Amino acid sequence: MSQPIVLLLSGPNLNLLGERQPEVYGTATLDDHVEASTAAASARGLALEHVQSNHEGELVDAIHAARGRCAAIVVNPGAFTHYAWAIHDALAVFDGPVVELHLSNPASREPWRHTSVVAPVADGTVAGFGLLGYRMAIDAVANLLDG
Ligand code: DQA
Repeated sequence: MSQPIVLLLSGPNLNLLGERQPEVYGTATLDDHVEASTAAASARGLALEHVQSNHEGELVDAIHAARGRCAAIVVNPGAFTHYAWAIHDALAVFDGPVVELHLSNPASREPWRHTSVVAPVADGTVAGFGLLGYRMAIDAVANLLDG
């Protein structure tokens, strides 16, 4: 039987991880994060798919395409976290567990980062743990899928 799929979604500017504000986001690249997530998923009997986009509509399309096909979503929406209601609405019609993920802790940063429009449609949020957070988020969805 094929393994349940976790969709890892990465929003805008996350393709620049490694070069982008390393003092905030660390030196690991997006590929490093995907590799850690894939290993964490595999350890829990899950397959991982990754989509990165700098465009809100592409992330909405990826969420729609996950419906009925993917078991869970881990999403780091980047700056879309703070205002992208179309991503909120798309996640609201996804059936499985959703975990919101951030490398940094937006709550300890600028006030405009304190609002998340994704949090109300997520089962929970992992924030502030850098690379470790990716493993934590995968573990969180695996536990939610285990019931
Ligand atoms: C981020 C936090 C957001 O506020 C920011 O716009 C990002 C990255 C994080 O992973 O810490 O692009 O989602």
